[in-house]
Amino acid sequence: MKIKSLSYILIESTNLESWEAYARDVVGLMKNNDLSDEKNLFFRMDESPFRFQVQKGDNDRYARGGFELENKEAFEEAKKELSNFGIEVAIESKELASLRCVEELLSFDDPAGNKLELFYGRSTDTNKFKSSQDISKFVTHGLGLGHLVFGTLEVEAAHDFYKEVMNFGDSDIMRMRFSPDPNDPESVLYFMHCDNPRHHTVAMMQAPTPPSGLVHAMVEVETAEQVVDAMDRAIENNIHISSTLGRHMNDNMVSFYMMTPGGFMLEFGYDGIQPDWDNYETTYSPAPSHWGHEFKMPEA
Ligand SMILES: [Fe+2]
Repeated sequence: MKIKSLSYILIESTNLESWEAYARDVVGLMKNNDLSDEKNLFFRMDESPFRFQVQKGDNDRYARGGFELENKEAFEEAKKELSNFGIEVAIESKELASLRCVEELLSFDDPAGNKLELFYGRSTDTNKFKSSQDISKFVTHGLGLGHLVFGTLEVEAAHDFYKEVMNFGDSDIMRMRFSPDPNDPESVLYFMHCDNPRHHTVAMMQAPTPPSGLVHAMVEVETAEQVVDAMDRAIENNIHISSTLGRHMNDNMVSFYMMTPGGFMLEFGYDGIQPDWDNYETTYSPAPSHWGHEFKMPEA
């Protein structure tokens, strides 16, 4: 199958108000008032009807990622391929497909326990996108929402799955120690791309899966100033800054990380590279960053 992009994510929340304030006052997303109700909030980053769906629930966590296929033919082909791989697929209802603003929808699990959705035929919103903050635009066109980084102890199985079943390619493979102790075994991280120039759409890290279901999601803007402004807004709104500014080694992204009301982090960056995959060789990064990116977790 050929995955075009990560189109949207679904988040479960006990407190929709906190997400509404966070999306508006910190991230700069646009609420889709036509779709949102007391059970679901939908936030836009561009002409897509939404990129973030926050659904009222019993937990605060990342729930699902929605990946885009070209058309019905690609959808039927993906169904066949998943069945050939012996993967149990749920064909989702018309109601759920319509809630996601797509023609048809199916879901399945990856070996790390992540719920994935595949679809085709997503509608666009005819109302012009306008950020709730001073963000010219999010860098999404042809690239999808951004990226997702999972933590799993089944990292090899997950990597094989994204390579063989999802047909993602290896952008970068990183081996690193999370502590300064040289006796600590190294952890491996796989950064993988789908059929668009974003350096990685999914990455998996050899680490226990966090209770929030996700290590981080990433969104990208156009300028350094917009990154720093977002950091200022996070500080003003008492949002925990999980990492200082830094420049990543593999995708060259300049970013900071902050906590979301979902218990996972949001990386907010600019200047990510967009490789030409036909002329690319997988890189092996010895460290996450050229400079910066000092992580500090919130005190329990
Ligand atoms: Fe990232």
